Amino acid sequence: MNDKLTKSRFSEIQAKTDKYILGNYSRYPACFEYGVGDYLFDVEGKQYIDFQCGIAVTNLGHAEADIIDSLREQADRLFHTSNLFYSREQAELAEVLIENSFSGKVFFCNSGTEANEAAFKLVRKYAVMSGIPNPVVLTLKGSFHGRTFGAMCLTGQAKIREGFGELITGIDYIQENDTIHLETMFEKYKGRVAGVFVEPILGEYGVIPLEENFLNKLRKLTEQEKSILVFDEIQTGIGRTGKLFCFQHFNFAPDVMTLAKGLGNGFPIGAVVIGDKFINYLPTGAHGSTFGGNHLATRVAYETLRVILTRNILANVPALSEYIVRRLKVIQSKYPKLIKEIRGRGLHIGVECTQATRPIVLKCLDRGLILNSTNERFIRIMPPLNTSIERIHEAMEIFEQVLGEFNS
Ligand SMILES: Cc1ncc(COP(=O)(O)O)c(C=O)c1O
Repeated sequence: MNDKLTKSRFSEIQAKTDKYILGNYSRYPACFEYGVGDYLFDVEGKQYIDFQCGIAVTNLGHAEADIIDSLREQADRLFHTSNLFYSREQAELAEVLIENSFSGKVFFCNSGTEANEAAFKLVRKYAVMSGIPNPVVLTLKGSFHGRTFGAMCLTGQAKIREGFGELITGIDYIQENDTIHLETMFEKYKGRVAGVFVEPILGEYGVIPLEENFLNKLRKLTEQEKSILVFDEIQTGIGRTGKLFCFQHFNFAPDVMTLAKGLGNGFPIGAVVIGDKFINYLPTGAHGSTFGGNHLATRVAYETLRVILTRNILANVPALSEYIVRRLKVIQSKYPKLIKEIRGRGLHIGVECTQATRPIVLKCLDRGLILNSTNERFIRIMPPLNTSIERIHEAMEIFEQVLGEFNS
């Protein structure tokens, strides 16, 4: 990129984008040139605190030195060979994932939606191979599982599925945190529930954590019915909630876990961790990917996990989380008509507002703070896991000031 990008270059980039790139995204008016730690810098050199982390991706912030070194070293050596061969980088990453989650095996792909597609195929194959009659896959009404056709059909939010004609059949949706509805659905589909997909915290829907009693009931029912319990940890995984994986806050493990986002700290990679009981349901030839587990991606993901685990990054998350929630509660007490609720776990925090949040997030952006607006009235705050109290203080000062301007 040209070092001498100016404001007029931003307009040029915007015009070129509008002319040549599909308009399927609603973009904010900023274009970043580089990032360092918690900060991003735009093409004019303006500094922003990045508390969105590319939607829960750059969990270790920008330009982390060891991650860059690992990428450089790998790029010098080998980009790609394909899954027709063995890969040291894949094997080493898979070992770290399994040794830090639950016993099983890993499938690698390139994104979250692909991880859910693979898990969906696994569940369907399991249903066919074990003779489940007229099988059903259950997910949550407020869920978001991705944009490819299978993951879209698994997504409970109707607005994501509308307008694409006939959808995949054999999928139904449970009301989140409603144990009665959960039991009713298992009763309705008795003997037919092949699998259940859940986000332990519904992120895109507005950061809605699943309650422990709901999850315990779900684990019990899936065990009773021999259904595969899939945790979509694409957003909650890789330390976002203060544990490496969100399921580790509870007293059980899922059967399958899907990962992406923070796994490569910005380098595209997805993974499915499949527990021992179900490793035979995607046999040789049943699924695959040319790029999945590519040398570059797996090397970077290995380094990301190594940094998180060896530097004990997660030990600081509870204190950072408490501080941010405390500051948010003070802001809420000042503007109770604007903020309805503050929720979340670790550094996956949601602020439910009483009005549309895009204008609030736009104003924060203008003041140098990047937050995420989701599902109309929610703000997601997802700082890097290695941020500091000072940076949170700076961010909360901006947030409070901006909310003051919306408080009428
Ligand atoms: C919980 C969850 N699942 C799946 C996805 C899809 O991931 P990707 O955008 O990498 O395909 C997302 C993305 O936001 C997500 O939050």
